[in-house]
Amino acid sequence: MRIKSSEITPEQVFRQRRRMIALGIGSLAIPAVHYAFAADNSAADVSAMPQASIDQDNQATGLTPTKLDIINSYNNYYEFGFSKTAPSEAPKTLITSPWSVQIGGEGADNPGTYDIADIHGEHDIENHIYRFRCVEAWSMVIPWNGVALAKVIQAAKPNSSAKYVRFETLHDEQQMPNANWAGGPYIEGLTMAEAMHPLSLLATGIYDQPLEQQTGAPIRLVVPWKYGFKYAKSIVRIDLVEEMPRNTWWRQNPREYGFYANVNPAFDHPRWSQATERVIGKFGRQDTLLFNGYADEVAHLYPDLHDRRYFF
Ligand code: MTE
Repeated sequence: MRIKSSEITPEQVFRQRRRMIALGIGSLAIPAVHYAFAADNSAADVSAMPQASIDQDNQATGLTPTKLDIINSYNNYYEFGFSKTAPSEAPKTLITSPWSVQIGGEGADNPGTYDIADIHGEHDIENHIYRFRCVEAWSMVIPWNGVALAKVIQAAKPNSSAKYVRFETLHDEQQMPNANWAGGPYIEGLTMAEAMHPLSLLATGIYDQPLEQQTGAPIRLVVPWKYGFKYAKSIVRIDLVEEMPRNTWWRQNPREYGFYANVNPAFDHPRWSQATERVIGKFGRQDTLLFNGYADEVAHLYPDLHDRRYFF
């Protein structure tokens, strides 16, 4: 049965194709960072394009999606370079078709290898307009298209060993100029309860367009109540496992990053405040919301909201 996105969060399917307006986004880039994030403390940036049609479409959510050109040109994808513009400016070397995702691990009774077409064919495409909050204190609103992660996991028939889900992304020096920045593939993880939550998606598109190389083509994770580094891009393996996976940023810098990474304005990053965020494509900053605005849906997953472990 098709899960209506409106049953999860108030939102609408895009009925109108967007006008794809070429947009110069000026100097959005912040200095390149190596193996460490930097807070985005800029006060404002300018974007002159009218938002009227998107606003009308999305009155139901109260969220105004960031323009596609901006979503596609202000990125973190270190395998394609460390600056915000490097991933979109990199030559298009990622081969996204054919692409298969291996699903397995000791917690899967029905492991398998699935082509993107199989994943699309077997599961309904959902449309979700979600807030996106980077740990660097900037944010966007992204209209994702994708399949429910829960459906893909259910098809793998989880057994009692399935406590966590581990995501592994493509690591290929031929296709990625900076493939080795983390010494191996980018790894992320969720608890089973998080992965089975109806907000969690495997996204394959944005604004009804396939993902671009820089946004994680052809398939990436979306968990809107968590900081953006959880959204593993260009996924090639999904394993249902017993042990908590050690994700890349936790490994890189365990003093600053952990496993859960839920958004909480009350828990500062060791080097900057998480209380506010710069809204990319708009003027100024706005207050950051507990669980990025999805507390009603997900707070029950975390028994102690004062436990810092859940928020870094
Ligand atoms: N996935 C891979 N494989 N490599 C990365 O460097 N960066 C993460 C996440 N997924 C990253 C990744 C970070 S830090 C963020 S904030 C988001 O992707 C950025 O997604 P976007 O560029 O689509 O906004």
